[in-house]
Amino acid sequence: MINAEFNNVNTLEEFYSEIVRQQTESHGEHYCGHHNAIRKYIKNCNSYMELGTHQGATAACAMLCKPERITLVDISMKKFNSFLRPLAEEYCDKNDIHLGIKECDSTSLGSINNTDILLIDSLHHPAHMKKELDLHGGNVNNYIIAHDTSILHGKPNEALFNVLYDFSISNNWKILDRETRNVGYTVLGK
Ligand SMILES: C[S@@+](CC[C@H](N)C(=O)[O-])C[C@H]1O[C@@H](n2cnc3c(N)ncnc32)[C@H](O)[C@@H]1O
Repeated sequence: MINAEFNNVNTLEEFYSEIVRQQTESHGEHYCGHHNAIRKYIKNCNSYMELGTHQGATAACAMLCKPERITLVDISMKKFNSFLRPLAEEYCDKNDIHLGIKECDSTSLGSINNTDILLIDSLHHPAHMKKELDLHGGNVNNYIIAHDTSILHGKPNEALFNVLYDFSISNNWKILDRETRNVGYTVLGK
């Protein structure tokens, strides 16, 4: 994915509209469709966690919905720290959002955290996603949203969707939404 540039961005709202504009310009319409799912499903939830933060587009999307608690996990927080972090900390402070930042592998024990919604957008590899679901699934109270479930590394590929499907059958979750435009996303619910 692209690395967006931020000129004249001073607030979380400005950051969010700028990163969505640049990601959509580079990757096409509906690339950020999973943001609609975050906004839709976070409504009745208190906590949000994501695996894969990068510069922070989905993190900012969740913050603007003001849940009580947000946990961000990435193997490297360098890109998040280099621009969004101070704006995010200020916004969360003002809006009474507890912000937890974990720089670790999303399949490590240190990444575990109870949450109402989990977004998976980290290493887009089926074996890795299976490990993430096995490790985190039992700590997710309501919804799992996963990005890139129709196209992987530029080619049509349902491997991530198939991992989610198998998880849903084995663990009694339901597939609530499946978007196939652009790279796609899938939402599971209990
Ligand atoms: C596609 S980006 C995330 C995009 C982000 N959600 C957004 O909306 O801008 C994928 C991120 O996953 C992180 N990542 C890759 N492998 C990981 C792993 N094993 N554990 C945790 N994070 C990982 C990368 O460092 C990268 O920042």
